[in-house]
Amino acid sequence: MTKRKMTRRGVLAAGATVGAMLLAACGGSGEPESDETGAEAPVEEDAITETPAAEEEPGAAGTGKILVAYYSRADENYADGGTEWLEVGHTKVMAGYIAEALGADQYEIVPAEAYPEGYDDCCDVALEEQRNDARPTIANPLPDVSGYDLVFIGCPIWWGDEPMIVRTFVEGVDLAGKTIVPFTTHGGSGLGSVPANLQAAVPDARFLDGYAVAGTAVDGAHDEVVDWAKGLALA
Ligand SMILES: Cc1cc2nc3c(=O)[nH]c(=O)nc-3n(C[C@H](O)[C@H](O)[C@H](O)COP(=O)(O)O)c2cc1C
Repeated sequence: MTKRKMTRRGVLAAGATVGAMLLAACGGSGEPESDETGAEAPVEEDAITETPAAEEEPGAAGTGKILVAYYSRADENYADGGTEWLEVGHTKVMAGYIAEALGADQYEIVPAEAYPEGYDDCCDVALEEQRNDARPTIANPLPDVSGYDLVFIGCPIWWGDEPMIVRTFVEGVDLAGKTIVPFTTHGGSGLGSVPANLQAAVPDARFLDGYAVAGTAVDGAHDEVVDWAKGLALA
């Protein structure tokens, strides 16, 4: 498949289907390339950040058994026909809502090689990684997930899918037997192919329905995200 540079609008309009198309066309379900694979970072407990629970809503606070793991990118982003500059990525904001509401620990996936600040350049890199079924290296130590029962996994939608570095994470930690909840922020694709991809990667985990928030709406989505997360975690 010849590489084709999509416009910003094109990326978003392609929505949830583009990732599957790209994966199908580019052998996305095949074996990772050896020179780009593997979570090389060691597993350490220090990798996680404890989140104080919201005082008025203790929820599942203090159980220490919920982890919110996410990848999120700041910098230039597409938004409603133009661009926006993010000091904090949309998914990171959403992850914070969940973690605070549930008293969950947080783990941010940090790329060893930062993605480009420019939106179009980042789109190019992301597409190349999908085509190569890459496993970009994570810079920070992977968390010890053995003490968590419930693991939220969050990311932006990139070309209909999760960024490939999320696959590095999922394959680098032992999530067998956990309950996993996907969440995304996006520009129109919703959850995209993320739930299906995660289920394929961790077939022996239990999955709960995920939740998606448009990136540009995340600042006003605190209450709906908290309601959703508490409904899951406390059920
Ligand atoms: C490389 C790249 C590819 C994207 N592809 C899609 C897409 O296929 N579908 C979509 O709805 N949004 C797409 N977006 C928009 C992001 O999913 C959305 O802006 C998200 O909220 C960004 O989250 P973040 O700030 O946490 O990284 C893409 C953004 C980037 C940077």
